[in-house]
Amino acid sequence: MTALVYNKESQRYTKELPTDRTNYLQAWKLLESYSKIPADKIDAHVTEIVTFAIFHYPCIGRWRFLDLYITQAPEYPEIITRLKSGDKLLDVGCCFGHIVRQLVFDGAPAQNLAGTDLRPEFVELGYELFRDKETLTSQFVTGDALDSENKSLEVFDGKFDFVHAASFFHLFGWDDQVTAGVRVVKFLKPGSKAIILGRQVGTRKPVSLEAYRASGERRYHHNVETFQNMWDEIGEKTGTKWKATGELFERKVGEEDDDEVRTILRFAVFKLD
Ligand SMILES: C[S@@+](CC[C@H](N)C(=O)[O-])C[C@H]1O[C@@H](n2cnc3c(N)ncnc32)[C@H](O)[C@@H]1O
Repeated sequence: MTALVYNKESQRYTKELPTDRTNYLQAWKLLESYSKIPADKIDAHVTEIVTFAIFHYPCIGRWRFLDLYITQAPEYPEIITRLKSGDKLLDVGCCFGHIVRQLVFDGAPAQNLAGTDLRPEFVELGYELFRDKETLTSQFVTGDALDSENKSLEVFDGKFDFVHAASFFHLFGWDDQVTAGVRVVKFLKPGSKAIILGRQVGTRKPVSLEAYRASGERRYHHNVETFQNMWDEIGEKTGTKWKATGELFERKVGEEDDDEVRTILRFAVFKLD
């Protein structure tokens, strides 16, 4: 097992697996069917991996990292069909790479899928979690998606038709989200009918850009309209045009009574012409 920092102080975290498994049924099925882990061993296996992971992100510390929501996205059937015909998908901020494994399980050729993340440990833990280091042919490359000079990520430039980015853009402020968006556009094939999709913390009352800049807030949360504005800015910087679609919905963050309800933005951004 990879030795990693057990940083449980950095975020609220939940040590035990949640008792309500409704949101995990799909992931447990994936671990049983794809990774061939016996059903009665999955709890212990997942707990072991998470115990060794860095509890830096609430999505790991609060057991949300195995959410396979993408299978419910309206674009999912089209994406699977196009991946089977040779299109390619990159998961940016892929963490353990659970989306890549689900796509493979749903019939997408593994060689048409790739993942990238800042942290090599997460990619390694993904192999341990899914027990496929020797078999999975999808490519994972680590690097900083905010660093336009990063050489390791250049291997992915111009290669993809889809980018999946969940709980990724919301980590940053407006300007860094624009930088990340410009990097994402570079990953796409120039002439492709590209789609960028994902899910992240959103808001029903986004602040104006002026108010955001004046507030000194570190992160910017969107609704569909502000996300469109951001993709207009990314479009101007990259000579491309984008149509942002999506929806906001509310979700309780954990199982405890005092857990907050979060507004989530599910989005799909379509390349125009
Ligand atoms: C909150 S997690 C989301 C993981 C996964 N996409 C999901 O939905 O469960 C954010 C991920 O983005 C990665 N990340 C953060 N900053 C990054 C950067 N500058 N470049 C690339 N990846 C980054 C983190 O290492 C982490 O795996």
